[in-house]
Amino acid sequence: MPAQTRRQLAAPPARYRRSPGLVMHWAGSELVCTDCVSGRRFAVSPEALSVLVRLDGGTSAAAIAAAHPEIGGLAAIDDLLAQLVRAKVIAPGVNGAWPWTTWMPEAAFFHFGTKATRFPADPRQHDRELRAKAVDSPPPAPVKAIAGRATTLPAAGDLGGLTRVLRERRTWRNFSAAKVGLPEMATLLQTTFGVQRWGTVKGQGRVVLKTSPSAGARHPIEAYLLAANVKGLSAGIYHYDSARHRLVALKRKMSKGLLVRVLANQQYFADAAAIVIMSAVFARSMWKYPSSRAYRAILIDAGHLGQTFCLAATALGLAPFSTMAFREHEVDSVLGIDGVSEGAMYVVGVGTRAAGHEGRPGRIATRGTT
Ligand SMILES: Cc1cc2nc3c(=O)[nH]c(=O)nc-3n(C[C@H](O)[C@H](O)[C@H](O)COP(=O)(O)O)c2cc1C
Repeated sequence: MPAQTRRQLAAPPARYRRSPGLVMHWAGSELVCTDCVSGRRFAVSPEALSVLVRLDGGTSAAAIAAAHPEIGGLAAIDDLLAQLVRAKVIAPGVNGAWPWTTWMPEAAFFHFGTKATRFPADPRQHDRELRAKAVDSPPPAPVKAIAGRATTLPAAGDLGGLTRVLRERRTWRNFSAAKVGLPEMATLLQTTFGVQRWGTVKGQGRVVLKTSPSAGARHPIEAYLLAANVKGLSAGIYHYDSARHRLVALKRKMSKGLLVRVLANQQYFADAAAIVIMSAVFARSMWKYPSSRAYRAILIDAGHLGQTFCLAATALGLAPFSTMAFREHEVDSVLGIDGVSEGAMYVVGVGTRAAGHEGRPGRIATRGTT
């Protein structure tokens, strides 16, 4: 017998494991599986299901064939396994280590299952659809009023500059061509994302304190600057080093086209001076909070920082905005992060105010906004 054949005969049979990120649910009469690891969603046949249930510990085709003769023998099992391998739902020899196992299934399903895949070429398309919808189905009331004995309150006190800034903050979608200065950008970054103080939690290590609160002082959010029109700073993509208050250039090209693309074709942000992409380093939160509920805190943390950024920009007389419409996969790859241990969560941006738009700074101009 040739040596190669002897080796083949002696080789242990391939053992397969299913992806550690599978979540299944019914959609009508169909069993649908989402693989949080790959982000794919697909229907599961009864045969595939009976194979998948056996693949938690690393199982061979022969073992499955012995346990499930109804599937049709080794050849049928091999075929099914090959299909599952191609779909990346299972892999030979994959070990179960995946950082999000800690927050399975709720947070992982939500985080990976809600990543954006496609956006319309024209974001105003959604507005048109909503206008049509509102004809027969108007939106719910934006405020709630309960009948009962009411106490009329004194007028809100004036907090001075803070009140002015809070009331003046608006989402801007109209920018002038003037650049934002580097000192203003530095102020925005330090005030929003910069470390204000260091602290120590006894027996746990060092924590940082910023101008926004953070659940458990974990501060999972990192900030990346995509600078297009900042005076004194080369157009580029930078990581903001929050402890040392400095920008570290990533070796990636920045352009207006890239900005609009990552912001899901929102052309009205094309003249923004810069955007800040907030990513989350999930392990910081997972370390302290093994429960998937902590995922909520990451979203809320990002919201706090977003508001601080917008208020600081308003105080500087600039034109801020926030957006959830961005392409996570593309943003992650532009930043060089893997989307699993660190992933993009939220985007804010800033420009200089276009004259004549103070009354309705967020209005989307109908010309030149495709
Ligand atoms: C979480 C979040 C996501 C948002 N996403 C978008 C967006 O994708 N595109 C956009 O133009 N504005 C976006 N906005 C801005 C809102 O449209 C805006 O806040 C809202 O219309 C109220 O206007 P104001 O910010 O001027 O008070 C977002 C705001 C928040 C808080």
